[in-house]
Amino acid sequence: MKKDLLSLADLSAEEIWHILNVAQELKEEWQAGGNQPILMGKTLGMIFQKPSLRTRVSFEVAMLQLGGEALYLSPDEIQLGKRESVPDVARVLSRYVDCIMARVFAHKDVETLAAYSRVPVINGLSDYSHPCQALADFFTILEKKGTLRGLKLAWVGDGNNVLTSLLFGATKLGMDIAAATPPGYEPAREVQELAFRFAKESGSTVEIGHDPQAAVNNADVIYTDVWTSMGQEAEKEQRLKVFPPYQVNAALVARAKPDVIVMHCLPAHRGEEITDEVADGPHSVLFDQAENRLHAQKGLLAVLLANK
Ligand code: CP
Ligand code: NVA
Repeated sequence: MKKDLLSLADLSAEEIWHILNVAQELKEEWQAGGNQPILMGKTLGMIFQKPSLRTRVSFEVAMLQLGGEALYLSPDEIQLGKRESVPDVARVLSRYVDCIMARVFAHKDVETLAAYSRVPVINGLSDYSHPCQALADFFTILEKKGTLRGLKLAWVGDGNNVLTSLLFGATKLGMDIAAATPPGYEPAREVQELAFRFAKESGSTVEIGHDPQAAVNNADVIYTDVWTSMGQEAEKEQRLKVFPPYQVNAALVARAKPDVIVMHCLPAHRGEEITDEVADGPHSVLFDQAENRLHAQKGLLAVLLANK
């Protein structure tokens, strides 16, 4: 049966670890001079309803470096659900390509693509979650810290799609996670319930609150993201009023562990959720994290398409 990646909640801890391990092998092989063409003859179709730098380029380069190809399908071309129904797009595209990656507004659209596609479907960000980002993030934390269990990740900012995937991943993999969002901007109740359930199973802890200083206390990782995600532009002015106490700045970072690493999925709105001083400072791993999108997704593609 084909395997999709729609949400990390759908994967077992073993499956996530396996992707991370394959990613590690492929990164080492790449560092030693180049990858074997394990995806020779394979094509990835990439549907975008929203802009992208990292997701588009890292998936495209991942396919190229593994011997395959990727097709970029812009918002204007496919017009998912407008020019053609989502099921028909899935039925047709999956006759041509070996895997579909889609960046959508409504998470339901990526679920519908998966339901009607003959080939694996990867969620390249929806309003609900961003699992490929979280895979790269846990890969990065492992590289920097050597472990996940026993570490604390502090999220400061909006209870958004990236936090959802980090909550699922952390609680599946046994990492503690504390989130501080403004009141009214918490992750959805159903997301919280799943995270608490996974944490119980793995023995990790979850805290969802409103106090950034409490969240970063004793943190090994501080993570933030934009205050206004793609598709929420109409709320921007209101969010700019609410979110300033949730800025990751030097004073907040100083309250975490001395060796804390600071992460951001990027793109950053410097001067809003993160200061230049922190983004470019000694704790920042922002650009290693961005690079690891490439390696983590190679691991994912190898597992989905080459039975690694
Ligand atoms: N982090 C991330 O997904 O970046 P892009 O929006 O540029 O793909
Ligand atoms: N939360 C952001 C992440 C961008 C990679 C958004 O959805 O716009």
